[in-house]
Amino acid sequence: MEHQSKIKPKQEAFAKTSLKMNKLVLTPVGYPLKVGDDSSPYLSTDDPSLFQHYARSQWIGLVVKNGNFLFDSLLFPDYAFRAITVEPKNSQITKNTQIFLYSEQKIDPANKVSQQHTTLSEIVGQQNAKEKCQIISKFLSNKELMKSHWAPKNILFWGPPGNGKTMMAKALSHNIKSTIFLIKASDLLGVYVGDGARKIKNLYAEARRSAPAVKFIDELDSIALKRNYQSIRGDVVELVSTLLGEMDGIDTNQGIITVGSTNQPKLLDSAILSRFEDLIEFKDPNHFERREILNLYANLSPIPFVEISWDLIVQQTAHWSGRDLKEKIIKSAIHYAVLYDRTKITMKELNDSLLKANIFNENLTYYS
Ligand SMILES: Nc1ncnc2c1ncn2[C@@H]1O[C@H](COP(=O)(O)OP(=O)(O)OP(=O)(O)O)[C@@H](O)[C@H]1O
Ligand SMILES: [Mg+2]
Repeated sequence: MEHQSKIKPKQEAFAKTSLKMNKLVLTPVGYPLKVGDDSSPYLSTDDPSLFQHYARSQWIGLVVKNGNFLFDSLLFPDYAFRAITVEPKNSQITKNTQIFLYSEQKIDPANKVSQQHTTLSEIVGQQNAKEKCQIISKFLSNKELMKSHWAPKNILFWGPPGNGKTMMAKALSHNIKSTIFLIKASDLLGVYVGDGARKIKNLYAEARRSAPAVKFIDELDSIALKRNYQSIRGDVVELVSTLLGEMDGIDTNQGIITVGSTNQPKLLDSAILSRFEDLIEFKDPNHFERREILNLYANLSPIPFVEISWDLIVQQTAHWSGRDLKEKIIKSAIHYAVLYDRTKITMKELNDSLLKANIFNENLTYYS
């Protein structure tokens, strides 16, 4: 039988050149083959000069052009890096080549939002939060202030669902015109123990690279639980301690502000809660605010609302959230009008929406 040699990925065949390389930037790509869902390690480095030494030691003499793959043969055999910058083009790695690692790929791009269209003026009420956002944006736009000891660092938005916490984060991003990372805390829980902690570290590393930046961690209670609840998920202990470490580790002068959001501050780990210098409550809208929210969304309707007694609706919606007013009253009335080909929306459609929502609430109470 013919001898079968083990097939190993080879460095790509490169043309001969005497051109010496000045600069090479590599980005981790992963293995040529994957096993299961998440088998590629996330590679980054704490010490760029050590990485450079490591890279030169195995790739010295290679001629590289943009897009080529370089395979690791030391720590992670066959792990591929892609050359994303080669200066000059098609040149040879020497002992003097500056080699950098650029690793960004583990942050979900959907979480990184550089600008949002929501503005502060579209949010009804929530005055304290709006003022806080203005303070944050003033600090972020002034480098000297941001470097000072007094820059905002960790802020918690809390309150019942549907009252504009996430909306405020998006408006903040619009206001500051700098990068905001919108992260759902539950997405930080990985499949394997250790995934979550790694994701948190990556996130803070990425935020440091993008500074000035705001990190908005939505639904914080899903990971930062009190110690007596942490036994429900073993790795939550690790998540909490990683988060604490990162929250403490961020110096004010690094230009990163963490905004957390929760419906249930009482469930939060007390050490995490105490890291938030400011706790901003989002309340259900009052009488005037309910009317303003209803009018705001009715004015955006493609079908006009006519002859509506808004006061009657406002009276019947005490303790409703902004989300409920928008979705269960305005949106529901628009759907009804579309279904029956109405050219206008009247009290009838609104009363039907209200009735439907009330029946739903009553049923909910009955079954709970
Ligand atoms: N004060 C408000 N002004 C205008 N619109 C509002 C207001 N509050 C809520 N809304 C509407 O309700 C939607 C839902 O609000 P949002 O997602 O910001 O609530 P939340 O406080 O983050 O809720 P949760 O705690 O469930 O995450 C918003 O996108 C917006 O359309
Ligand atoms: Mg939210």
